[in-house]
Amino acid sequence: MLSSKLSAVVSLLAATAVAQSYSPPNSTLGSDADGKYEISAEGIRGLFIPYGASISNLFINDAKGIERDIVLGFDNASHYSVDPFHPHLGGVPGRYANRIKNSSFVIDGVKYQVTPNENNNNDTLHGGPDGWDWRNFTVVSHTTDSITFSIVDPDGKEGFPGEVVSYITYTMTPNTWHIKMLAWATTKKTPIMLSSHTYWNLDGFQNPDTPTALNYTLHMPYSGQRIGTDGILIPNGTILPNLQYSVNDFWSGPKQIGANFSAPEIDGNCGTNCTGYDTCYLVNRAQNGPYDWRTIGPVATLASPWSGIQVDVFTDQDAFQVYSCGGQNGTLPIKSTQGLDSRPRVVEKYGCVVMEVEDWIDAINQPEWQRDKKNIFGPDDPPYVLEAAYVFSVNKTP
Ligand SMILES: *[C@@H]1O[C@H](CO)[C@@H](O)[C@H](O)[C@H]1NC(C)=O
Ligand SMILES: *[C@@H]1O[C@H](CO)[C@@H](O)[C@H](O)[C@H]1NC(C)=O
Ligand SMILES: *[C@@H]1O[C@H](CO)[C@@H](O)[C@H](O)[C@H]1NC(C)=O
Ligand SMILES: *[C@@H]1O[C@H](CO)[C@@H](O)[C@H](O)[C@H]1NC(C)=O
Ligand SMILES: *[C@@H]1O[C@H](CO)[C@@H](O)[C@H](O)[C@H]1NC(C)=O
Ligand SMILES: *[C@@H]1O[C@H](CO)[C@@H](O)[C@H](O)[C@H]1NC(C)=O
Ligand SMILES: *[C@@H]1O[C@H](CO)[C@@H](O)[C@H](O)[C@H]1NC(C)=O
Ligand SMILES: *[C@@H]1O[C@H](CO)[C@@H](O)[C@H](O)[C@H]1NC(C)=O
Ligand SMILES: *[C@@H]1O[C@H](CO)[C@@H](O)[C@H](O)[C@H]1NC(C)=O
Ligand SMILES: *[C@@H]1O[C@H](CO)[C@@H](O)[C@H](O)[C@H]1NC(C)=O
Repeated sequence: MLSSKLSAVVSLLAATAVAQSYSPPNSTLGSDADGKYEISAEGIRGLFIPYGASISNLFINDAKGIERDIVLGFDNASHYSVDPFHPHLGGVPGRYANRIKNSSFVIDGVKYQVTPNENNNNDTLHGGPDGWDWRNFTVVSHTTDSITFSIVDPDGKEGFPGEVVSYITYTMTPNTWHIKMLAWATTKKTPIMLSSHTYWNLDGFQNPDTPTALNYTLHMPYSGQRIGTDGILIPNGTILPNLQYSVNDFWSGPKQIGANFSAPEIDGNCGTNCTGYDTCYLVNRAQNGPYDWRTIGPVATLASPWSGIQVDVFTDQDAFQVYSCGGQNGTLPIKSTQGLDSRPRVVEKYGCVVMEVEDWIDAINQPEWQRDKKNIFGPDDPPYVLEAAYVFSVNKTP
């Protein structure tokens, strides 16, 4: 026990040395009575918790100047560990986000079996039954506008080879939430894919006309293709075209999430018996030549016509998962900072949108996609890096 803790500390120190550009902020502010850590800048205030390095609240003023809490979460940090449903609210799925087909993969000719946790144990979702977003990260530093979490994921945990050490940093600047994720495979080659699994309701569930997100407009200008999946959402190797005006066309222009819900193809579009979206869209920017993800424009824009709140998602990642919350059924509670007294304080079907910046899902089982350098990392490789910026603005409402 002692020696494994010691080795974890040594790994953390080594990882810090590797991250030469990383200089931890010099301050510790601590958490509030609910176990949450606040960071803020002009026009934005977020609360975070060690469990899954999750965002629990994000406060943005709407077009009328009224503050809305626009992400899903729980009121108390301690509830996350006991919640029976665990919908991955706002956390960092790891060490390998999304699904791993048949809970196995091959690296350098060696087959690895990881712990299954979905679809009668046919696959591994979000890193397994005790993936990163089931664990408390360590708060490494906390200032008024930034927080850094760390995790040491031991060799063999959930069946994955080798130790992984990761730092997750969230920083606020005016109207912007910045995410930087770094991860090092310190001992062996292993799959790494992280994401931010944030559920959005840009009205804070306070739109009196609807508790759903179906009227939000979504635009993904670089996403003319998506990854084909089977009935349980496992990639089957195909890359599919999002033909213009088809239900998966969000590239040719902004479209309401629910715009095509009367089209027959929307049924089963997110797996067997699922209506809507739970889809990994590719982000194709290569034709622009060398580009800076910070300035080339958002990979996605989501906007609510009621609150006027708009989020532009900038990222260095090459895929973008959208889930339209068809699996919600009025069981999950909303927070005391959200909702209206006039209706149930729960998340209804289609009451949210999950947007995940990530790489091509399950690419470890599709070697012909040639994504190894973005999916498999060893001690001799540069670290895994994910960066994103969520930029908020308001549009005039009707
Ligand atoms: C941290 O801040 C304190 C007080 O401002 C200062 O004395 C100390 O030198 C700082 N430490 C580092 C490592 O910057
Ligand atoms: C949150 O949970 C903790 C631990 O269970 C408890 O001490 C605290 O009072 C709770 N806070 C609120 C506001 O209920
Ligand atoms: C995470 O930390 C919270 C607050 O200290 C605690 O209540 C909870 O049991 C911890 N959960 C896990 C999975 O360690
Ligand atoms: C799934 O994994 C098991 C255990 O390694 C193996 O026996 C089986 O052949 C695999 N199935 C497929 C379809 O790859
Ligand atoms: C999962 O695997 C079992 C066999 O272990 C099989 O019966 C079942 O049809 C598979 N698929 C799903 C979606 O559960
Ligand atoms: C949603 O948008 C549709 C079409 O744009 C409109 O007819 C409808 O009234 C809107 N519903 C709500 C609840 O805002
Ligand atoms: C893969 O799944 C898509 C549906 O998502 C389907 O259109 C395609 O035919 C499937 N391809 C194979 C090879 O199974
Ligand atoms: C989807 O909705 C858009 C916008 O209303 C429309 O132009 C398009 O024809 C619809 N596609 C289908 C397949 O219904
Ligand atoms: C899909 O729905 C049909 C009709 O309700 C049902 O018979 C079937 O079992 C469902 N399939 C799955 C995989 O849930
Ligand atoms: C609603 O969803 C929850 C969580 O997924 C599930 O446990 C429950 O059985 C569902 N309830 C109904 C009525 O479908």
